Amino acid sequence: TPDLSTTVAGIRLSTCIYNASGPRSGSAEALHKIAQSSAGAVLSKSATLLAQDGNPLPRTWQHTEASLNSEGLPNKGIDYYISDETISEILQSDSSKPYMVSLSGKTTADNITMLRKMVGNTKIAAIELNLACPNIIGKPVVGYDMEQMKDILDQVSQIPNLPPMGIKLPPYLDSVQFQQVATLINQYEWIQFVVSINTLGNATAVSVEAGMPYISSNDGFAGLSGPAVKYTALANVRKWRQMLRPNIDVVGVGGIVTGRDVLEFLLCGAAAVQVGTQHWSEGPKCFDRIVQELSDCMKELGHESVTSLVGTLQPWN
Ligand code: DOR
Repeated sequence: TPDLSTTVAGIRLSTCIYNASGPRSGSAEALHKIAQSSAGAVLSKSATLLAQDGNPLPRTWQHTEASLNSEGLPNKGIDYYISDETISEILQSDSSKPYMVSLSGKTTADNITMLRKMVGNTKIAAIELNLACPNIIGKPVVGYDMEQMKDILDQVSQIPNLPPMGIKLPPYLDSVQFQQVATLINQYEWIQFVVSINTLGNATAVSVEAGMPYISSNDGFAGLSGPAVKYTALANVRKWRQMLRPNIDVVGVGGIVTGRDVLEFLLCGAAAVQVGTQHWSEGPKCFDRIVQELSDCMKELGHESVTSLVGTLQPWN
């Protein structure tokens, strides 16, 4: 049987598939279900400094090819996600499964305060710093604002003894943006992995019956996810694998439904992948199914290991 294990930032994942931050990742109970599945790691909902309820309802919409959300970061606050009690409830007997924490502070100062709380915490396998939330009314996506992004990356550089760190990026569409962001990221030794992509911001789904957007919060502007964004996600993963330092791992996320989708991301350069929208609709059993499908698909194609496939997409000439 094919070897589905991988490493991200030097951390061993027993399978290369885990959950995206967001869906079904806000409580220890939900995270425990991921820990019990074939997922190779467990990742929390993006935490803010204090617990918050998020945007007004309805704030999500689901369709076969796409989903929208304007959740506005509902979460239990950073202290919950990093407490010993929460972590032991999540991992229980299987304390070898990597537990990662996502952060999305409302300000750079909040992010720095949250990071300082995690210095020296060996129960946190890695931190995913989310620079890409599109749903905070009146706030730009950090990853689209080069000055704000440089400022936060500079400030993180000042904090010693953090767990392994990565950043979550929004989707980019233009080669100049890719070049600017790659040049910036490559300067920071502490960045060990990049997660790409967050949702494609400012999408709208329209109800013709109501004559209104399906989503009420943020005037119906919301982040787009699911199969509709897979092609953009694949291209972003490819670009990052081509443009980032070789010792930065790329974690691919966007529209994965099947094991075959995972293979596409591996070929494009992902060392591991995350599943968001499909985990939301199908529940944590999606990890067992996708892992099995990946194994079957690799066997059929004669591939022996995930790590030997990463970034092996061939050019036409
Ligand atoms: O699509 C998203 N929704 N991306 C994020 O980073 C945050 C989330 C939310 O809570 O709004």
